[in-house]
Amino acid sequence: MPPKAIVTLAALATLALAACGPAKKTGVTQEMTKQPFGKTPEGEQVELYTLTNSKGMEVSVMTYGGIIVSLKTPDRAGRLADVVLGFDNLDGYLKGHPYFGAIIGRYGNRIAKGRFTLDGVTYKLARNNGENHLHGGIKGFDKVVWKAREAGPQSLELSYLSKDGEEGYPGNLSVTVTYTLTEAGELKIDYQATTDKPTVLNLTNHSYFNLAGQGEGDVLGHQVMIMADRFTPVDAGLIPTGELRAVDGTPFDFRMPRAIGERINAADEQLKLGKGYDHNFVLSGAAGTLRQAARVVEPKSGRVMEVFTTEPAMQLYTGNFLDGTITGKGGKVYQHRYGFCMETQHYPDSPNQAAFPSVVLRPGGRYQTTTVYKFSASHS
Ligand code: BGC
Repeated sequence: MPPKAIVTLAALATLALAACGPAKKTGVTQEMTKQPFGKTPEGEQVELYTLTNSKGMEVSVMTYGGIIVSLKTPDRAGRLADVVLGFDNLDGYLKGHPYFGAIIGRYGNRIAKGRFTLDGVTYKLARNNGENHLHGGIKGFDKVVWKAREAGPQSLELSYLSKDGEEGYPGNLSVTVTYTLTEAGELKIDYQATTDKPTVLNLTNHSYFNLAGQGEGDVLGHQVMIMADRFTPVDAGLIPTGELRAVDGTPFDFRMPRAIGERINAADEQLKLGKGYDHNFVLSGAAGTLRQAARVVEPKSGRVMEVFTTEPAMQLYTGNFLDGTITGKGGKVYQHRYGFCMETQHYPDSPNQAAFPSVVLRPGGRYQTTTVYKFSASHS
């Protein structure tokens, strides 16, 4: 671990007006702290920023991959636990991992056969998931060092310039991702981007949650609600077939709260293909407006996570590929289904599926999406 030299960046959120006499604090002290978190093999310095609110909630984000390294929220008795999977130090992340906590780009999820055609030009991308392209390629946004700027007392802005041709994608893409922690227990993520050539883009965050606490068992008992009437069935490579299938009468109907584990082993072709849930849900309501996508309750701790997004869809991934080979924070071993992801997004493979909402960004346009993960505790 690097030395714990904690540098206070944003000193006080609320200060008395010091018109006359000494300044007095009238509100809570809220600090964003920064500490060195190690160096990449290329020698780039990585920093860890920690945001806190007055309820004791705490989020740490590092500049490598914009990764959420820890997220501590209270249970119904006020006890804090870290509810995201990850590692204690940078080395753990550098050794390779399944995208724990990271910003995903340029394209979250899969692009079939690692290619797409835009304005008559065919672009070739890495095939890093069988014959398909996954999560931005070999060195996606999860593996670059982002430039950090304090955008407010509890608001961390990360920016990155992805060069024309990076990982095969066209256009110099200027990306900004801002993490904000609010007093209402929300972790708000704002994504923005502009380009100088037509390109495709689908940014998300890949946190693995376990509301019982990271490493504290599997997530099968979590009660999940997803505001979606339809989902996009996939083929064996997890590429959408193009169909938007009604969830009615399937294990994909989460319109009423259901435990993740209740139907996960059902004799369902789609669950077999995903080895569990690894599917894109088409969210109800108008894309572009911030609306509720999901609600998750962990019954024992009472921790609740609600997801709100402007995105048209959300991938539910239930950690089907975790297999006990990764030892994470505090020496916890991440076994099968020890975490779940709720990746707000556009549909997978949209660049190749004209009937799906467009993921094209053109010069002069601005990509702008927001996702909020809101934490609370249920007393019932
Ligand atoms: C994908 C999974 C994949 C995982 C990477 C998820 O977003 O949908 O299929 O295995 O990311 O660990």
